[in-house]
Amino acid sequence: MEVVILPTAADGGRVVADIVAAVLQRGEPVNLGLATGSSPLLAYRELIRRCRVGGLSFARAAAFLLDEYVGLPADHPESYRQVIRRELTDHVDIDPGAVHSPDGTSPDPVAAAADYENVLLAAGPIRVQILGIGTNGHLGFNEPGSSLASATRVKTLTRQTRADNARFFDGPNEVPRHVLTQGLGTISRAEHLVLTASGAHKAAAVAAAVEGPLTASCPASVLQLHPHATVVVDEAAAGRLANAEFYREIHEHKPAGQGY
Ligand code: GLP
Repeated sequence: MEVVILPTAADGGRVVADIVAAVLQRGEPVNLGLATGSSPLLAYRELIRRCRVGGLSFARAAAFLLDEYVGLPADHPESYRQVIRRELTDHVDIDPGAVHSPDGTSPDPVAAAADYENVLLAAGPIRVQILGIGTNGHLGFNEPGSSLASATRVKTLTRQTRADNARFFDGPNEVPRHVLTQGLGTISRAEHLVLTASGAHKAAAVAAAVEGPLTASCPASVLQLHPHATVVVDEAAAGRLANAEFYREIHEHKPAGQGY
């Protein structure tokens, strides 16, 4: 795992954008894994900017969302399929039909979860999976206790996650209780996991994920098992990392051309 500590969230956004841009620039068909939430927004804005002024193209990319609320109408502004359109895909040249997400509107969410897992299996590997982290260490909507080997399935949100996400709704009671999420096993099939976080409110979760025990109690600790994981954090989110100085030293002396 590589931990990249940068002064600001905007610096982090540029590094995440660099990682995505590098795979897009190969000009080959590529599967991207996208996350919603506020953490990747600066990276998405940077990617949009590079498409507008730098000739970057998503034309050969397919995109797969991590998760979705159960029961929101498809056109609900906070459904993740709408959020990702608003924040990224409507502003780049990706084929709208190549943007996939779990179907939270299905009357049979259990079947919808299995269907999405099959869509992912048929699509082949995700080249880069962007991830945020919940304040309780969740990845996607894999709450604490999630099997580290789990597949896409229906999950029930914790009170903390509903409170954290209440800012997008008219209060915590309006946040759906159930969700569809790629499992931790599903996420782990991606070739490169890129987790991004900023702010002191994420510091405990980041430290638990990076330096704590590998445990279902901190779902993001599954990154420790992955052969290619990059954690991009600002100083505030790095605030509780015991080995922060070591990570900074590694980054400062990164061999030229190593990439992320
Ligand atoms: C949300 C999403 C996650 C996201 C996380 C952190 O509930 N399901 O995919 O990474 O919580 O959100 P944010 O980036 O807004 O802090």
